[in-house]
Amino acid sequence: MEEKSAMEDRSAVEERNTEERKNFNWPWPDVPAATLLKKARAVAERAYAPYSNFKVGAALLMSDGGIVLGCNVENSSYSMTLCAEMSAIAGMISIGHLDPVAIAVAGGKSSTPCPPCGACRQILAEFNPDMQVVLESPNRIIVMTVNELLPLSFSLTERK
Ligand code: THU
Repeated sequence: MEEKSAMEDRSAVEERNTEERKNFNWPWPDVPAATLLKKARAVAERAYAPYSNFKVGAALLMSDGGIVLGCNVENSSYSMTLCAEMSAIAGMISIGHLDPVAIAVAGGKSSTPCPPCGACRQILAEFNPDMQVVLESPNRIIVMTVNELLPLSFSLTERK
């Protein structure tokens, strides 16, 4: 009984949080958050995930409107697995960009949030702690910043 009420509490909190985030900051009208999410969902199809069968896609938006895609790449030596967000960041660097403003991540069952893992949060924070992170949810898109997902991320230099 107690467990059930804890679950109800949690869903009420989540509902309130998503309500509060409805009017999220998205100053890139040419690439709506929903479009970025669609690209993430589409590139997840290309993931190499024969071990987990959990395919993840990431679509990284640059400040100039360019989009870099990434998907997870697993390995029989499991710990060598690359996450979708990491592969998108690696792609971004290799084409000479350093200025991501937003990332959409989609994976697993559609309409279920696939939030970046802890390691990926740190990797994203390296390039822009204010980056907007777009996630799927049953009723609406969830948008929150890397900083909200990983407060006090590690940095060798002082952050403002
Ligand atoms: N995965 C990602 O691609 N991104 C994350 O942020 C979390 C997990 C992948 C790694 C692995 O291939 C699969 O999801 C299952 O853990």
